[in-house]
Amino acid sequence: MGAFVKVLQDDALFEPGTRTAGRLAKVQKQNLQADQTRPEVSRILKQVREDLMKHTVFRSFALPARVGRVMISRYTCGMHYGTHFDDAFIEGVRTDLSFTLFLSDPESYTGGELELTTPSGSQAIKLPAGCAIVYPSDHLHAVLPVTQGVRLTAVGWVQSRVKSSEKRQLLHELNHATQALENLDNSLEKPLTRLKFVHNNLLRMWSD
Ligand code: NI
Repeated sequence: MGAFVKVLQDDALFEPGTRTAGRLAKVQKQNLQADQTRPEVSRILKQVREDLMKHTVFRSFALPARVGRVMISRYTCGMHYGTHFDDAFIEGVRTDLSFTLFLSDPESYTGGELELTTPSGSQAIKLPAGCAIVYPSDHLHAVLPVTQGVRLTAVGWVQSRVKSSEKRQLLHELNHATQALENLDNSLEKPLTRLKFVHNNLLRMWSD
């Protein structure tokens, strides 16, 4: 992540985040976004997409059909993004899941937590550089004000093969348990075949 952060120190790569915000969000969105027409930026975005698609836990959890827009956001002191929702479709991609990949070292800035409003209350999230959170796009969310330093993230949206979060979670659990059994004991061939048969048929039944 250090190499990305170094490239993204250049102020000239950034423009106001309100460019890609709807009318309502324009009031709440106070951040900067990297201009993706710049080759330095598009190289980073390409790398983020590739790394994401190679990540086995992400693939199992998100069941990605398409990765939509990915953007680099920068929040300097005083910037924030008030509680908002994301559009159902962004550039033609249905937003089933959102992700935030933290690029800055958490020690290098204060504030700037991603605040998620979930059915079990709100959660403030700040992860080490190189770690990402993937969450259902139907949650209200905010970025709390940065009070010191610079917060850099890559954010993006994913259309999943399985729209329902509940079904997606069950498929992920089943896949995870099957893999664990397979690694544990390869003499379990017959029951494993049955488990994978169930997993694949559920995936076939539940994908759009
Ligand atoms: Ni958002």
